[in-house]
Amino acid sequence: MSALLALALLASTALGAPVSSSNIYAAANWPLPHTVTGDDDSAHPNDATQGWGGIHVHDPSIVLGPDGHYFSFSTHGLTAISRASVAGSLDGDWKILGSVLKGKSVVSSSGSADPWAPDVHKVGSTYYDFYSVSQFGSQVSSIGLATSTTLLPGSWTDHGAILSSSPTAAYPLNTTNAIDAALFVDPKTNIPYLNYGSFWSDIFQVQLSFDLTKANLKTAVGLSFDPAGTQAEEGSYMSYSAAQGYYYLWYSHGICCNYNPSSLPAKGTEYSIRVGRSKAPTGPFVDSNGVDLRRGGGHIVYGSHGPIYGPGGQGVLSGYHGRDVLYFHYVNTTSDPKYADNLKLLGWDYINYSAGWPVLSYD
Ligand SMILES: *[C@@H]1O[C@H](CO)[C@@H](O)[C@H](O)[C@H]1NC(C)=O
Ligand SMILES: *[C@@H]1O[C@H](CO)[C@@H](O)[C@H](O)[C@H]1NC(C)=O
Ligand SMILES: *[C@@H]1O[C@H](CO)[C@@H](O)[C@H](O)[C@H]1NC(C)=O
Repeated sequence: MSALLALALLASTALGAPVSSSNIYAAANWPLPHTVTGDDDSAHPNDATQGWGGIHVHDPSIVLGPDGHYFSFSTHGLTAISRASVAGSLDGDWKILGSVLKGKSVVSSSGSADPWAPDVHKVGSTYYDFYSVSQFGSQVSSIGLATSTTLLPGSWTDHGAILSSSPTAAYPLNTTNAIDAALFVDPKTNIPYLNYGSFWSDIFQVQLSFDLTKANLKTAVGLSFDPAGTQAEEGSYMSYSAAQGYYYLWYSHGICCNYNPSSLPAKGTEYSIRVGRSKAPTGPFVDSNGVDLRRGGGHIVYGSHGPIYGPGGQGVLSGYHGRDVLYFHYVNTTSDPKYADNLKLLGWDYINYSAGWPVLSYD
C-alpha cells in the first residue's frame, strides 16, 4: 500500500468510515489449520452410515462435555459422536464413540435415516442437539431436537421436529430451508435464537421459547442473503465477544459436498467461511466495507489456499485457553484420496480481533 493510500485510510478510519479489509482478510494472511489426531475410519468411502467421526467430520459441532473433554458431532453416521481423549484439548486423540440417534429420526421424512449438520449446546444442565432432516436440493426439511445430560451414545432423547419448511408452510418457512440450525443464547438477555437456513432465502433467525422447543415465527428476521447466483449461503453460526462488544454471524458460502477431483466446482464457488458483525443479535450485520450481509456482504475470513480446499461447516468455541476458536472441516489436497465428504478433516484456528473484526491466527 502506498503511503498516501495508508494516510487516506487512516483519515477515513478516524472519521468513522469503514476500515479497509484488503489487508486483514487477504488470502495470504490465512493460517493453516491446527490438525487433529484420532480414529481414521476411511474404510467406508461415501457411505452415509459408517466411517464418520474421529479426525473426519463434516459440519462439525464441538461442545465441552461434563467430564472436561471436548465432544464433536458430525453430519451422517446418525450424528456421529467423537470425544477428544486429552481433557481440555481440541487436538485429539478423537475417538469415535457412536451416534446420537439409535436409528431413524422420529421426524417423518424420507431423509430421517440420515440427519445432517448437528448443533450441540449446553443450556442449564442439558445438552441440546439441533439436527437437520432433508434431502439434497430439497426445501422440504426439518430441524429436529434431541437432548441428553451426558452426550454419550444411548443417552439421547429424540423430540422430533421443532421447525419444518416447505413451499406451503407459513412465512418464512415457505421461502427458507429449515436445516443447518445454530442456537445462540444472547448472554446479555438470555433470549434463545435459532439461526438456520441454506440456499433459498439463505440465513434466517427465529426466537425460541425458553425451553428451546418452540419457534416464534412472528420474530423471524433475515440475517444474510446473497442475491447472486444460487443464494449459496448456509451453515451459519453466531458468536459474541464481550471484549469487542459485537455479535458475529459466520456462514459457509458455496458448494459444500460431493467434490469430484476430476470436475471440481469453478474456482471460488467451493465452500468458504464468511463473517459479518452487528451490535445486536438480530442484525443488521455488515462487513468492514459497510455492506449489509442481506445485500451480499460478508468477508471471506477463510477459503481455499495452499493445501486447504473448501473449508466450511464452522463453529466458534469461546474461552478455549482464554481465546476464541473457529473450528471447521476442510479438504487436505495433499492426502489421498482427497475430496470425499467422509475424508474431510477437523481443523481449527484461533480468532484474533483487529479493530473488532475477527481474523484467524494459528498462534
Ligand atoms: C410465503 O408466505 C407469505 C405470507 O403468506 C407470502 O406473502 C409469500 O408470497 C410466500 N412466499 C412464497 C415463496 O411462497
Ligand atoms: C496434509 O497432508 C499432509 C500429507 O499427509 C500432511 O503432511 C499435512 O500435515 C496435512 N496438512 C493439513 C493441514 O491437514
Ligand atoms: C493473535 O494473537 C496472539 C495472542 O495475542 C498473538 O500471539 C498472535 O501473534 C496473533 N496473531 C496474529 C496473526 O497477529
